[in-house]
Amino acid sequence: MGNIIILGSQWGDEGKGKIVDLFSERFDIVARYQGGHNAGHTVFIGDRKFVLKLVPSGILRPGKTAVIGNGVVIDPAALLAEIGALEAAGVQVNGNLFISNRAHVLFPAHRMMEKLTEDRPGRVSIGTTSRGIGPCYEDKFGRRGIRVADLLDTGAFRAQFDVLMDEKAAIAKARGIYQEQDLRRTRDEYEALAGRIRPMVCDTAVLLNRAIAEGRTVLFEGAQGTMLDIDHGTYPFVTSSSAGAGGACTGTGVAPTRIHGVVGVAKAYITRVGGGPFPTEARDGAGETIRRRGNEFGAVTGRPRRCGWFDVPLVRYTSAINGLDSMVVTKLDVLDEFDNVQVCVGYRIGQREVAEIPPTVAELARVEPVYECLPGWKASTFGVTSYDALPARAREYLAYLESRTGVEIGCISTGPERNQTIVRAGSRFTKLLA
Ligand code: GDP
Ligand code: IMO
Ligand code: MG
Repeated sequence: MGNIIILGSQWGDEGKGKIVDLFSERFDIVARYQGGHNAGHTVFIGDRKFVLKLVPSGILRPGKTAVIGNGVVIDPAALLAEIGALEAAGVQVNGNLFISNRAHVLFPAHRMMEKLTEDRPGRVSIGTTSRGIGPCYEDKFGRRGIRVADLLDTGAFRAQFDVLMDEKAAIAKARGIYQEQDLRRTRDEYEALAGRIRPMVCDTAVLLNRAIAEGRTVLFEGAQGTMLDIDHGTYPFVTSSSAGAGGACTGTGVAPTRIHGVVGVAKAYITRVGGGPFPTEARDGAGETIRRRGNEFGAVTGRPRRCGWFDVPLVRYTSAINGLDSMVVTKLDVLDEFDNVQVCVGYRIGQREVAEIPPTVAELARVEPVYECLPGWKASTFGVTSYDALPARAREYLAYLESRTGVEIGCISTGPERNQTIVRAGSRFTKLLA
């Protein structure tokens, strides 16, 4: 068995947390490669619910190593709060979690900058999670960011922090929205937080590459989804990191030659949180039914998720971007009630067929989905654990998605719990994860 990436192939919240948790049992290490505490990965173990934000889902498996890679942006206060909650629930974190010394640090000023840009008249509001993720990545790519290693070097940190905060104050003053802040206190707080994360910090690229060289296996856990990827998503309605497969390499320091497969997670329908074009959004009762049955409310912000039908052109696109070997289709049970299930099989703008995903939101907003209507199965699939036990029409639905997307469905999720899962015998999926 090799090293595998499991990522979102829609707009996030596909059920990555459940799937990564389930299959992390078969790997030695689980590594997060991008994003920050904008992610909310829900895992149910029996009646216990965990929502992981920064910590990889593998942490819930005793004895597994969890890595937060260099591509992640870390709010140390959020991270420590999450670790505290996990420990209070009896999860062993100490000794199992390692944090990259090259990951960038997120400060309260990043949240403030985000609020300013999101609220600014005339600027497109992205509908972010308000965690400061975008501004933190801005500082990273602007080459003025502060990394975990810098935070741990007190002398260097103080100087860097003061320069960075001066810059932020200058921007705020220029815009006439400056508010006096006790920066000395923030700096002291961060120094105290640094002391607490220090024992977990190391060069995680060295850790991962050494482990791989010694024959241990790594599962790379994506956050967000490919349509939120900074390069390949519905820009500017995206997050600020590389959620796609490429991000696994840049975000951990593990080369593509050491990664052996990519698995995409997709819901049996599709959701999106925040603004931006959404061709198959169901604004009618169907969207409401999906939201209700799927409990589609954001794991981080609690916002109602926008719901719609499975979008084949979108998944064909994310399959190409990620080189998907196999797909996990989650939340099949949510569609159990429907008389008919719609699947978007193509895009049209006016009379023109659109073969590729348009690059601009203006064009994407004009896209009219071409739907194929499939009969619903009108029977419960909740908790079904074998493919043959699924209603025939549910199997037909899955076979249809497979043939239209050109991607094998190697695994199906029929409920939030670990055991509510079907793994298809003989699939590429089983070969990758066997
Ligand atoms: P992630 O961000 O991709 O990890 O997904 P989220 O945790 O944000 O959202 C997925 C939600 O669906 C969570 O509440 C999961 O517990 C739940 N879930 C996952 N798989 C299934 C499934 O097959 N059926 C149902 N009904 N719920 C599921
Ligand atoms: P998981 O990992 C769904 C969305 C936000 C917003 C856009 C930018 O749980 O799938 P950001 O705060 O990242 O700058 O917001 O991205 N977004 C997500 N949507 N699931 C997520 O994570 C998301 N993380 C960010 O709603 O539209
Ligand atoms: Mg989520």
